Amino acid sequence: MAKKLDNKTREARLEELSYPEAPKLVTEIPGPKSIAMFQKMMQYETPQRPAGTVIPLAAQEAKGATFMDLDGNVFIDFVAGVGVKSTGSCHPKVVEAIQEQAGKLGHHIDSITPLKEKLVDKMRATAPHGLKDNCFLSFFQSGTGAAEACVKQCRMIQQPRNQVVVFEGAYHGVFGTTNAMTTGEGYRKGYDPLMPYVYHMPYAYCYRCPFNLEYPKCGMECAKYLDYKLNTPYTGLDNVAAVICEGLQGEGGYIVPPKEWWPMVKKACEKAGAICVCDEVQSGFGRSGKLWASEWYDFEPDMIVFGKGVGNDQPLAGVMTDMKFHDKLILQSQPNTFAGNSIALAAALANFEIVLDPEMDLMGRAQELGEYMQKRFKEAQKSIEQIGDIRGIGLWQSIELVKDPGTKEPASQEAMGEVLGRAFSKGLFLVPCGRYGNVLRFMPPLVISKKHLDKSLDIIIETLEELKDTLAGKK
Ligand SMILES: Cc1ncc(COP(=O)(O)O)c(C=O)c1O
Repeated sequence: MAKKLDNKTREARLEELSYPEAPKLVTEIPGPKSIAMFQKMMQYETPQRPAGTVIPLAAQEAKGATFMDLDGNVFIDFVAGVGVKSTGSCHPKVVEAIQEQAGKLGHHIDSITPLKEKLVDKMRATAPHGLKDNCFLSFFQSGTGAAEACVKQCRMIQQPRNQVVVFEGAYHGVFGTTNAMTTGEGYRKGYDPLMPYVYHMPYAYCYRCPFNLEYPKCGMECAKYLDYKLNTPYTGLDNVAAVICEGLQGEGGYIVPPKEWWPMVKKACEKAGAICVCDEVQSGFGRSGKLWASEWYDFEPDMIVFGKGVGNDQPLAGVMTDMKFHDKLILQSQPNTFAGNSIALAAALANFEIVLDPEMDLMGRAQELGEYMQKRFKEAQKSIEQIGDIRGIGLWQSIELVKDPGTKEPASQEAMGEVLGRAFSKGLFLVPCGRYGNVLRFMPPLVISKKHLDKSLDIIIETLEELKDTLAGKK
């Protein structure tokens, strides 16, 4: 096996993938061309599109962990298409694979191809825990589609059970059953009635524990409560097909549950006869420092939903399902026109090669960078007490901003808007998350150079320092 490169060589290679000059601002931010296009598109594209409707961003080109807007300004990308671009934008190996495949076979009916065979083999061989070489694959184009199909599989396997248990703060998609599973109010409003038989349980959100307890003294009350609800008569959960939970919780606040969480969830599922599903659409594909975030936990998921990073520059999502369920699914019951699109498959294979490359060791590096980021934020917290919580693993990092660390009252939406706008005006693109919209989440491509990471951290900390009174509600 090839050996890991020394740090200097590795950083030099990573620097080549991005615009080296980022951030480089050549106009006022936002620039005039971006504003004009933004105003037009806000009219002629659906207002339901959440991404980039606050900050007038019109992207033109992107490279690695950086992108250029319409006005020629170059930004550092700490969003990565919302946790998508593990291998960054337009990685030369991905571009080459897409170009080569586009000239050979673009889309075909969802048939078997050598490319699909290769990807299936790769995903089976690298699947975590008991799914390794023991799962079958379904392919879709979006995380929502994959999560929805996963619910269909669970119900079909478990007939006549139909209840689906999910968690407070969850995001699994915004159509059909997944919309009922997703908890953000803005995504649910105006779509009533949502699909039935979906139930939300408390999540291991230790900073704001739903039981007002403290880890580890709590003894994982949240997981115990799940076990109680699933395995006690008269709780209303008497027909559960599946318990579906994000590997790490994303939109709900970039939360990493304690190590006991998943093993306890799995045990409760087993007792209740429910399928245990780990949704790794956002937490998967190297972001946590392991290929799948579930590898950090000692348990056996029955299914994994994947998306985002696997396709990276191409839309590819799907489900890895334990072989034991193969014969329970009804033949031909899930058509999907673009499943197994060969350009997306080619991109995914290239992404696997990049993420698993031992010379670059991007996942080991993500772990080191995550620890480094936490150190910087802990240092900053000494003077910026509005940094209420610092959490994360690998390049899945976040800080929760509060008015006052004693009361934990969330920073206001106005203050958060100022933070995001100020960071953007300095050349760093960030998006928030969390139940109160007060969490800054950091999910740069794994290929971000140390130089760009340091520059980004400098911008974030400087911006928070400048706006700490605003965050505290004193201004
Ligand atoms: C955990 C999780 N599941 C599912 C989805 C839905 O994915 P998509 O937006 O590709 O439909 C997301 C999207 O953010 C997600 O974070």
